Amino acid sequence: MVDPLYCAASDRYDSGMKYERCGRSGILLPRISLGLWQNFGDVKPLALSRDMLHYAFDHGICSFDLANNYGPSYGSAEETFGQVFRKSLRPYRDEMFIATKAGYDMWPGPYGNWGSRKYLMSSLDQSLSRMGLDYVDVFYSHRYDPETPLEETLQALVDIVRQGKSLYVGISRWPMEAAAFAYEYLRRHDTPCLLYQGRINMLDREPVESGILRQASDNGAGFVAFSPLAQGLLTNRYLGGIPDDSRAALNKFLKSDSITDALVKKINALNDMALSRSQTLAQMALAWVLHHKEVTSVIVGCSSVKQLSDSIGCLDNPEFTPEELGMIDRLTNGC
Ligand SMILES: NC(=O)c1ccc[n+]([C@@H]2O[C@H](COP(=O)([O-])OP(=O)(O)OC[C@H]3O[C@@H](n4cnc5c(N)ncnc54)[C@H](OP(=O)(O)O)[C@@H]3O)[C@@H](O)[C@H]2O)c1
Repeated sequence: MVDPLYCAASDRYDSGMKYERCGRSGILLPRISLGLWQNFGDVKPLALSRDMLHYAFDHGICSFDLANNYGPSYGSAEETFGQVFRKSLRPYRDEMFIATKAGYDMWPGPYGNWGSRKYLMSSLDQSLSRMGLDYVDVFYSHRYDPETPLEETLQALVDIVRQGKSLYVGISRWPMEAAAFAYEYLRRHDTPCLLYQGRINMLDREPVESGILRQASDNGAGFVAFSPLAQGLLTNRYLGGIPDDSRAALNKFLKSDSITDALVKKINALNDMALSRSQTLAQMALAWVLHHKEVTSVIVGCSSVKQLSDSIGCLDNPEFTPEELGMIDRLTNGC
């Protein structure tokens, strides 16, 4: 079958998406970015991935978050993205903000993991080739490497920008002390850190509580929050058990035995509260992450266009009263 020609929606920037400045930079990011960690690999139909990517772009989501090992299988999310990009999104390249990362295990042997210059440089070359891009917009060190000198990892990031292979750089999941070093090193080398990427959701507030979120803002970096729905826990997916087609049933990253009766009870209470705000639980969970003023964008995952459409609806009711925030704290207490 011949695919219909794609033409992006003409009202893509007028359909309700909001844009926020990323730290002290010239970049604005959509409040919602699309993440391709799960559900975009070669185990999923290409047509589904294509439809989710098109839906996102048609609704003002111009920021796409990838990494070398997203799939499954490793590399295949970038390949999927590349196939869709080559076929339909290429004319819109200058409207798109594309991120990739390296830091976790990618290929066998001593050079396919962690934070060496050798790994980061060759991984980015591979990512560009899979995606069919000349450059990415932001390249992240995906995690802190306690064995490699920080200067080596950070200088690789600086040189990647100087080579024109990425316009900006970021760090993901770096602990506070190493992040402080990174902000300073990158600033001194005229490559200020654009973004810190960390997990924030109603059940996991570590970057808020540790000061990582404030630290990013104090250093002029934006903050993008990943897993804002706690991988699907903070949605209607698990209100009555574990559906067969859900992440908890299908993959190792969300363990089914972590979904205890006590957690399901909490999720149901949160769901009732979301309904009282005329929102779905996913929408309330995303709005809650976005109400932190230092958060530039939430990176959502999805397994269908319907989920993505629902998530975008969080922007219709973003405000919380102090009483509502207090109630969320009480309902999530102990998570
Ligand atoms: N830097 C890092 O180390 C790091 C780590 C993790 C993630 N990330 C980034 O963050 C992105 C998002 O992470 P995540 O996938 O864990 O995000 P998430 O948004 O917390 O969870 C996504 C899952 O929630 C369910 N879902 C999404 N929208 C829904 C809705 N409206 N209604 C009902 N269910 C809904 C789907 O589960 P089902 O699939 O079960 O349907 C979906 O796969 C990743 O793609 C990646 O780009 C970065």
